[in-house]
Amino acid sequence: MTNPATDQRVPLLGEERQLTFPSGFRWGAATAAYQIEGAVAEDGRTPSIWDTFSRTPGKVIEGHTGDVACDHYHRYRDDVRLMADLGLTAYRFSIAWPRVQPGGRGPANPAGLDFYRRLVDELLEHGIEPWVTLYHWDLPQPLEDAGGWPERDTAERFVDYAVLTHDALGDRVRHWTTFNEPWCSAFLGYGSGVHAPGREDAAASVRAAHHLMLGHGLAVQAMRAARPENEFAITLNLYAVSPAGETEADADAARRIDGLANRIFLDPVLRGEYPEDVRADLREVTDFDHVREGDLAAIATPLSMLGINYYSRHVVAAANPDATPEPYWRAPSCWPGSEDVRFVTRGLPVTDMEWEIDAPGLVETLRRVHDEYPEVPLYITENGAAFVDKVVDGEVDDPDRAAFVDVHLRACHEAISAGVPLRGYFLWSLLDNFEWAWGYTKRFGITYVDYESQRRIPKSSARWYAEVIRRNGLAAG
Ligand code: FCB
Repeated sequence: MTNPATDQRVPLLGEERQLTFPSGFRWGAATAAYQIEGAVAEDGRTPSIWDTFSRTPGKVIEGHTGDVACDHYHRYRDDVRLMADLGLTAYRFSIAWPRVQPGGRGPANPAGLDFYRRLVDELLEHGIEPWVTLYHWDLPQPLEDAGGWPERDTAERFVDYAVLTHDALGDRVRHWTTFNEPWCSAFLGYGSGVHAPGREDAAASVRAAHHLMLGHGLAVQAMRAARPENEFAITLNLYAVSPAGETEADADAARRIDGLANRIFLDPVLRGEYPEDVRADLREVTDFDHVREGDLAAIATPLSMLGINYYSRHVVAAANPDATPEPYWRAPSCWPGSEDVRFVTRGLPVTDMEWEIDAPGLVETLRRVHDEYPEVPLYITENGAAFVDKVVDGEVDDPDRAAFVDVHLRACHEAISAGVPLRGYFLWSLLDNFEWAWGYTKRFGITYVDYESQRRIPKSSARWYAEVIRRNGLAAG
C-alpha cells in the first residue's frame, strides 16, 4: 500500500497471508446520528449542542452544519439496502437524544422514537443486528444551558433518557452502548473547545469526564434491571502511547498522556477507581470534590462488552526546555494539567486527517486492555480512514482505504491469536459524513456521498470489505 499524500509505502503485517476470523465474528459498519441524519427540525427534534456549535461562526470549517448531512432520516431504507449489499451482520448507529426526548427532559417524543423503530425493523428484516449507541455527542441544548456535563444533574437526565429509549427499543435491540468516546465529550468539548459546546475550562472538563462515566454506570444498572438479557457497553477511544525519546522526562510524558487518554476512563469503568498518578497530575486542576461516595461503584457496574475505537498512536515528549518560560501550555488544551507535553510525529504515512497509520498500536492496545483489566469481550466499534476521494466515470477507487482496513484487520487477527477476546469489527464509516469540526471536508466512508444530489456510490473499498465479510477473513495479499 502506498500513501498518496506522502508517496510512502505503508507496511502491512504479514500481508501475503490468508486469515480467517473466528466463526460468529461480527462484521459491521458504524455511523452517528448528527453526522448522517439531517432533518434537524423535523418531527419534534430540538437543537443539540452540535446544532448550536456548528452555527457559531468559526467553529466548523466553511460553516458546515448537520442540517441535511446525508439525509439518512429520509433515506434510511436505501442505506439499509447498501448495508445488506455489503453483507454486514451488524450496524452501529446512534440515537439523537433531542429527537426522542426533545429538550432532554420529560416524556418521549413518539415521532422521534418511531424513526428508530422503523430503522431497527428494516435492519432486522435484512438480517442485520442493530447496535445502538445512546450518546454520540448531541446533548440537548437546554441541558448545556443548565450547565452541561460538568453538572451532576446531566448524568441523571441521561439515565432518564436511556431508560425511556431502552423501554421503547429494548425488545428488538440487544446491544446497547451508553457513550461514544467520553474523552472527546469531556476534553474536546469542555477543555480545548474544538468540539461542542466549545468551552475552554480544564476543571470543567475533568468534572464532565466523571459525570459522563456516572451517567454510563447508572444507566447500565437501570437498563439491565429492566432487561437483564440485553448487553451493555461503553465505547472508549483508546490510543497506544509511546515516549518520543529515551529520557525519563519523555517516559513521564507518556505516562501522563496514557493516564489522561486511556486510564482515566479504563480504571474507573473496569476497576472502580481513578488512577492515583492521574489524580496527582490533576491536583492543580481539581480536588475531585465532585466525586461522591458510591459513584465509583456505580461507574464500575459490570459491562457485557467494551467497545474500542482505534485510529492511531500518541508519541509524546516532555516540555521543550528551550521554550520561553511563558506558560504557552495554559492555552486551551485537551490535556488538563499536562498542557506542556509535546506531541511528535514520526514521519510515518498519514491519512487525510494527518493521523499516522500505526496498526501495531492496535495490537498493543487490545493486548494491554486484555492483560491489565478484568476479562470482558471486546469489539472494535470504530476504525477507518479519511482519504481524498475522486469520482472518475461514476466510480471511486480507494485502494488506500482498503489497505488501511486490511492492515488493521490483520492486527485484530494477531490479537485474537494471542488470546484477546475480540468479537467483532465495525468499520468507520458506512457513509461519508459530517466530520465534526472538519465538516464535509473529510471523507471516511466506504460509500461516497455526493452531498448535492445525495447519490451514494459504493467505493472500491466497499466491494473489498464485502468480500472480507463473505470469506470471514482476508485473502492472501
Ligand atoms: C471518532 C468519532 C466518529 C468519527 C471518527 C473519525 O472520534 O467517534 O464520530 O468522527 O472519530
